[in-house]
Amino acid sequence: MIDILKKKVALSALKYISRNSIIGIGSGSTMKYFIKALSSIRSLIIGAVASSIQSYNYLRKLNIPIIELNNLNSVIDIYIDSADEVNNNLEMIKGGGGALTREKIISSASKKFLCIIDESKYVKILGISFPLPIEVIPMALKFVSQELRKLGGIPKFRRNFVTDNGNFIIDVFNLQIYQPVFLEKYINNIPGVVCVGLFAIRKANTLLISDINGVRKII
Ligand code: A5P
Repeated sequence: MIDILKKKVALSALKYISRNSIIGIGSGSTMKYFIKALSSIRSLIIGAVASSIQSYNYLRKLNIPIIELNNLNSVIDIYIDSADEVNNNLEMIKGGGGALTREKIISSASKKFLCIIDESKYVKILGISFPLPIEVIPMALKFVSQELRKLGGIPKFRRNFVTDNGNFIIDVFNLQIYQPVFLEKYINNIPGVVCVGLFAIRKANTLLISDINGVRKII
């Protein structure tokens, strides 16, 4: 059922794509459905900027033109991605797939962020059901974990996983995130942290949520 809802919301995002635009592309299973849908209109867009090696490879496989962020002379028109949790202020937890750092870079380089989720990811308080992913420089793993414990979180090293940037992920359980912007800044300031999977400073502009009745939009 979840997969049907992911596909439904991914398809509904197509109408947000304008002719001759540059699209930032997120990562994960919902985005796989979106990339597939995007391939049907690939001749209309200038190109796509990928946020992970996985998305890059899939864009390439479907012959969608790819642009490297460093080669861009203009701004990315719209960033499209899913999330692991979203609250009603359109702040998010992302990074379940480990691509959070590049996702944050590309979403921050985009004019608009369209977030597409199924209803299971729409929550009142971030961090209760889904742990907060943090990308960390490998040698700082222990130090950063200690700092996160001071916040009341339970940090868990994500075993057998290395990010596209060659770093590790710590998933932090037991959080109730009432001040996402504050916590994002605080964790980003811990030495050794590359990026925290809280997207509150660069939150979504528009959220599409699919459920059995259809797709609704929140701005
Ligand atoms: C990838 O690192 C994440 O930020 C994804 O956007 C998030 O995990 C959602 O993934 P699914 O679409 O697979 O649920």
